[in-house]
Amino acid sequence: MQTSNILSLKCATCGNEYQPNQIDYTCPTCGPLFGTLDVIYDYEKIKPTLTRSILSENKRQDHWRYLPILPILNPDFIQPLSVGWTPLYNSKKLASEWGIKSLIIKDDGRNPTASFKDRASAVAVVKALEKSVTTVTAASTGNAASSWSAFTALAGLEAIIFVPQNAPKAKLAQLLLYGAKVFQVQGTYDDAFDLCCQAAEKWGWYNRSTAINPYLGEGKKTGALEICEQLNWKIPDYIFVSVGDGCILQGTWKGFKDFYALGLIDKLPKIVGVQAEGAAPLFHAWQKGAMQCEPLEAKTVADSISVGIPRDQVKALRAVRESDGKFVPVSDAEILEAMSILARRVGVFAEPAGATALAGARKLCETGGLRQDDEAAVFITGNGLKDVEGAMKAVNQQPILVENDINSVAQQIKTKG
Ligand SMILES: Cc1ncc(COP(=O)(O)O)c(C=O)c1O
Ligand SMILES: [Zn+2]
Repeated sequence: MQTSNILSLKCATCGNEYQPNQIDYTCPTCGPLFGTLDVIYDYEKIKPTLTRSILSENKRQDHWRYLPILPILNPDFIQPLSVGWTPLYNSKKLASEWGIKSLIIKDDGRNPTASFKDRASAVAVVKALEKSVTTVTAASTGNAASSWSAFTALAGLEAIIFVPQNAPKAKLAQLLLYGAKVFQVQGTYDDAFDLCCQAAEKWGWYNRSTAINPYLGEGKKTGALEICEQLNWKIPDYIFVSVGDGCILQGTWKGFKDFYALGLIDKLPKIVGVQAEGAAPLFHAWQKGAMQCEPLEAKTVADSISVGIPRDQVKALRAVRESDGKFVPVSDAEILEAMSILARRVGVFAEPAGATALAGARKLCETGGLRQDDEAAVFITGNGLKDVEGAMKAVNQQPILVENDINSVAQQIKTKG
């Protein structure tokens, strides 16, 4: 058991501080939506254990290379799945076509269950085991839950999952194959979230639902930490993240701020949250200068970010404002185009939400939001095999049915030619 490097859990709204053994989820004064907690570390204590030279000698090629700045008390509970250290691609082609200095693509669809969410699940399962629970739960549009089901299955925990009715088949298949009990709620993701929280409270299950669990953003911040190291400590000007609840976005900002506080970097990037037009409550709140989102009925092809009540709204709005970034809305058509561009120009196959951040980057380049000497990095947050129906919406051709005969192929080639 290592001693904790955590000083406190601090409410993002009222600033009250709690000890980790006092509280599991949110500030009781501010409630689940506004009382989300920041994990505050003892940076002076961590500094000597996490330097550039220590990191360069660390042979671990997963996100546990950042253990001193992760909220783990008992590393023995870490599950043997390789999370993080996902590849970066420097797309010179797109950067030059879009008129910016560089465009880095970080492919987080390469995580064990094929989404960014593995970063958070890997941390949350350790927290669940540290609490000696036997049953866990989560509400999710699909990726967080399938990831959670994998990690908790390895740990021998019972997983009870709540997903919306429209969860894509591949995500349901993952959940069921990992052995989770799955409730497919007749309603939206926002409905599934509330039902899951009620059930967790009633039956005492450990809840990995996003934002209310303070440790998820800590797992998610490791994407940012990797960018710092993988780019040789040269921090891009802009980081693009697709946004539903806002947890990946706030975690990304927390990662850069943690490394800044440790003196490992001396520049902070601007964080750009990209939302689907039909599910953009954070964009609307940011544009109006509001501190809270108006709930809305979300509708978008990008099921993973079809969120009407962003549960990490306090920290997400704060991250964009503090970093001098922005929120950008993109249409479903722009998301589908970005999937196709990503596949053909970079070779990465993403689900719609996975490519949404790239759609936002393209839009800002085209509208003058990014300039010639700007460097940008984009997280691709989920693999395309997660939602094959979504992928088929992005293609503009169908397979050609031919007889098993060369003349039939010849006929088709002639017709097309
Ligand atoms: C592929 C993908 N991209 C982006 C997101 C958005 O993450 P967040 O809800 O933390 O904003 C999700 C969340 O489910 C996701 O699965
Ligand atoms: Zn509070």
